[in-house]
Amino acid sequence: MTAEKKGLNRRTFLSALGAAGVLGTLKSAGNAARADQTQGAALYDGAASYPVLQNPGPRGMSVVWAVAPEPGKLATGWVEWGRNENLGRTSRRAEFGLNQLSTTFLSARIDGLEPGTTYCYRTATCQVDFQNAYNVAAGEPVYSPVYKFKTPSRRAKTEKFVVINDTHEVQDTLKALMARIEEVDPEQVIWNGDLLNQFVEPKQVVDSIFCPQYGAFAAGRPLLFNNGNHDHRGIWARDKSDALLPWRHQGIFGDLGRNFVLRNGPVAIIGMDTGEDKPDANPVFAGLSAFEPYRERQAAWLSQALKTKLVRSAPYIIVVCHIPLFDDRPGANPGDVMEHFASWQRPCARMWDPFMEDAGVQLVIAAHEHAFRINPATENRCWAQVVGGGPELEQNTTIMIGEADSKSLKLTVEKVSDRSILGEWEFAPRRV
Ligand SMILES: [Fe+2]
Repeated sequence: MTAEKKGLNRRTFLSALGAAGVLGTLKSAGNAARADQTQGAALYDGAASYPVLQNPGPRGMSVVWAVAPEPGKLATGWVEWGRNENLGRTSRRAEFGLNQLSTTFLSARIDGLEPGTTYCYRTATCQVDFQNAYNVAAGEPVYSPVYKFKTPSRRAKTEKFVVINDTHEVQDTLKALMARIEEVDPEQVIWNGDLLNQFVEPKQVVDSIFCPQYGAFAAGRPLLFNNGNHDHRGIWARDKSDALLPWRHQGIFGDLGRNFVLRNGPVAIIGMDTGEDKPDANPVFAGLSAFEPYRERQAAWLSQALKTKLVRSAPYIIVVCHIPLFDDRPGANPGDVMEHFASWQRPCARMWDPFMEDAGVQLVIAAHEHAFRINPATENRCWAQVVGGGPELEQNTTIMIGEADSKSLKLTVEKVSDRSILGEWEFAPRRV
């Protein structure tokens, strides 16, 4: 892919960053526990976005950031990290002997970490003038500020997460959500799908996630992205993995990069991809959809994931997916009929629920319907389902806040525009 084709529009990107944007962000990221505003700030000139942590594990963390090299140029980069602000270690992404070179996103995986431990890091970005194989010149590195993150640990006493969903590129909604995330200061942010209406170009992801306007919301805590039906749409949907890194699974499940298990303290959070909202045979897909076998593969993965000691030993198990797994309202479209689109995903529920019942999943967190609702657990279904709303700020945008310790898991759903509480529920620990 040529630099021009793959590249962000530098002027648009920089204007999105803007002087006010950078300073504003540094201020809001200036939560002293998370960022050092002084180190590297002067060099942070807009050539690189704020970093976004992804794929957290007890022993590793990925860092992704957007870049905006000058037209015709590219960028390479790395992450410097360590137990304190002296850093001292370096990680960078290379494939088959070649370091990463990009006009859009760079990333690095930091491995060999200790669970429940705080680390410092910063990104380094170099512009590269690549004329030909014997005429390549790399510029001076531009450093981000130093940020801190903490690795998850099953031994943690508490866990706090937030869930947002259905943002659909609505900028005032994003701004309000980011501000609330900073106040709540969770350990992870779960973005439960429909980030965009459709993936057309990298800039859309920059504007929503690498969001220079609103602050470094995921530089000090990881983002866990979950696909919504809209996130499967658009010409660039197949290429978004440079920005939204897949998760790595061992063995036969290596292809299921959107499924995840995060265990932190008493909570195991499992990410599932409900796919598109119509059957694969719907003519609108022109034969390009293969969600039915994909959901089946995920059922096999889920059955295994729920049997792992990491999940089985968790006092609370939460499944997060975009399209609801239950809807008993009259006329609710179950997603396996050719007309219209799914209100809920009966095919997923049929395949996944038996394993969820066996494991004693207490809660499903879903989205998609743009309106908040709760379905309590019943005698025949061990999990409650809470559905978040969005994307209209004043009408329906919610933020969910989950807080757990050994005694209870509390989930609060707020209307983000006025902080009114739409619902609060407590879940008792499973018997483990
Ligand atoms: Fe949706």
